[in-house]
Amino acid sequence: MEDTKYKAFVTKESDSGFSNSIENLSVADLKDNDLIVKVSYSSLNYKDALSASGNRGVTREYPHTPGIDAVGEVIESNSSDFKSGEKIIVTGYDLGMNTFGGFGQYISISANWAIPLPKKLSEAEAMSIGTAGLTAGLCVRKLLMNDFTPDSGNVLVTGASGGVGSVAVMVLSKLGFKVVALTGKKDQADYLESLGASSVIMRSEMEEQGKPLQKGIYQGGVDTVGGNILSNFISQTSQRGAITCCGNVASDKLQTSVFPFILRGVALIGIDSAESLLEVKKEIWNNFSNDWKIDLEKITKEVRLESLSEEVDKILKGEQIGRIRVNLG
Ligand SMILES: NC(=O)c1ccc[n+]([C@@H]2O[C@H](COP(=O)([O-])OP(=O)(O)OC[C@H]3O[C@@H](n4cnc5c(N)ncnc54)[C@H](OP(=O)(O)O)[C@@H]3O)[C@@H](O)[C@H]2O)c1
Repeated sequence: MEDTKYKAFVTKESDSGFSNSIENLSVADLKDNDLIVKVSYSSLNYKDALSASGNRGVTREYPHTPGIDAVGEVIESNSSDFKSGEKIIVTGYDLGMNTFGGFGQYISISANWAIPLPKKLSEAEAMSIGTAGLTAGLCVRKLLMNDFTPDSGNVLVTGASGGVGSVAVMVLSKLGFKVVALTGKKDQADYLESLGASSVIMRSEMEEQGKPLQKGIYQGGVDTVGGNILSNFISQTSQRGAITCCGNVASDKLQTSVFPFILRGVALIGIDSAESLLEVKKEIWNNFSNDWKIDLEKITKEVRLESLSEEVDKILKGEQIGRIRVNLG
């Protein structure tokens, strides 16, 4: 094992800024931890793009290998929980942030970050889901815990053509909800309807800051963008509704008033997938391999490390559609 070399996508800092390249690294140089995992697939999330472009809120030290998601085979184990040869999924915690991540063919991780790959899920399927899908799943779980039912009104998903948004549209429509998809992409209405959206509205309709209480037209739903869109979403949520808040691609600011909360009992629920309890992550992965099983192949583009940089640029510009799976084989 000592001198095993592996290929990795490496982000480096120089006087001219941050750049990405494919390099050969050594497994022996990975930080000591419980498990060495040979990664078969990873996936691209917005956070990876931040790490790959030098965002120090995500990654403090460079050179670095991003990739907050990985699936693969345990090659070496110092933990009684996993044996060599077992297939595992890891998403979040410190992977890809300040621990070398899934954009490398090997990772070294703590055993309590790992989940056995569910039997009914392939490695490729798991990384079509990835953190974006897990996050959508965590949002749906919270909405269901807030008594959401398909006959209690429409649900809205913002940033609908993105990774979290696309999976949220698919799972909610599979569960029988009438999903309204909000998008900035005029040409993606057909795509969103093919995922199960019952109607599509344009982002421009919700971008201007509106009144603190508007007509309550949604029982709530999934917000992935923040800013004025989330503010209007809160104002348009009906009695006892709920919205999950997980992203900030539009803005990290939120201007609202107490009225939707004190007059309609609206709940705004924060989602942090990375640090979710392992048990909760297991529950969501189990759902994705059973009742929530959805075919993500039609929304997944598979790339190799060599073309990952282009995809990173695209996600930073808000131009990605669906999910990007990274094949490390
Ligand atoms: N809290 C957590 O645990 C967690 C986990 C995963 C992701 N996130 C966050 O969730 C957000 C979405 O992640 P993702 O992986 O789905 O990213 P993504 O694939 O890039 O999707 C984001 C989508 O948001 C929309 N969008 C882009 N720029 C926008 C703007 N300026 N204003 C309004 N909408 C805009 C676009 O969809 P349309 O064109 O269809 O509108 C875009 O496809 C990110 O902020 C990410 O960091 C958080």
